[in-house]
Amino acid sequence: MMRLSRYLARAGAASRRGAERLIEDGRVTVNGTTIRQLGTKVDPADDEVRLDGQMVALPAQQVTLMLHKPAGYVTTMDDPQGRPTVAELVPLDAHPSLFPIGRLDFDTTGLLLFTTDGDLGNALAHPRHVVDKRYLARTASSLSNEALDRLRHGVMIDGRMTAPARVRRVQGEPHPTYAITIHEGRNRQVRRMFEAVGTPVTKLHRAQIGPLTLGDLPCGCWRELDQAEVNALIGGS
Ligand code: URA
Repeated sequence: MMRLSRYLARAGAASRRGAERLIEDGRVTVNGTTIRQLGTKVDPADDEVRLDGQMVALPAQQVTLMLHKPAGYVTTMDDPQGRPTVAELVPLDAHPSLFPIGRLDFDTTGLLLFTTDGDLGNALAHPRHVVDKRYLARTASSLSNEALDRLRHGVMIDGRMTAPARVRRVQGEPHPTYAITIHEGRNRQVRRMFEAVGTPVTKLHRAQIGPLTLGDLPCGCWRELDQAEVNALIGGS
């Protein structure tokens, strides 16, 4: 339940004070009855609110979620080549306007965000908005210290140096694995950075975006973010 004046304000009909005036002036009905009592509460799911006879609806609730992407899925909502897409893994029936924020390669696993909120998607995609992304990259052989330093300082991709990255070894032979944190989002960036130092990635997993990690979310599953998580994502990395 919420106060009628708050409902009107959230629906964009007026400011909170303006909404109170509308109510006092007898211009607002709830389920057909004119309401002049300022403290009146309404149930947004059930009650029909009208202003001057026109329906007043709350904006649809925005949804933001994280998917633990498996390998073998394209990050697109529709693949003309008919390959499996991440669209099959998120609740599109309930939220048809979901779209992915950024992308992971076909073979990359890990944390992928989706939202129905175009403003949030644009804000996070904007270069001004720096969010660290941490990956786990497995390689066929160990990197030399010199190669690690080159990754850290930046390597040339498409004629442009990559920004400094944090890189450390988290597992040795027989499956050398490196944690690498970058904030740029260039196409196939991590794979191309390792290729640039002569040691291709054999397996890639995104473990973290800003403050968000997958926790114990199983591969192929999604969960909704709460408002605090969305705020933390926008607030910084
Ligand atoms: N970098 C890559 O190379 N691939 C991804 O999927 C994400 C980052």
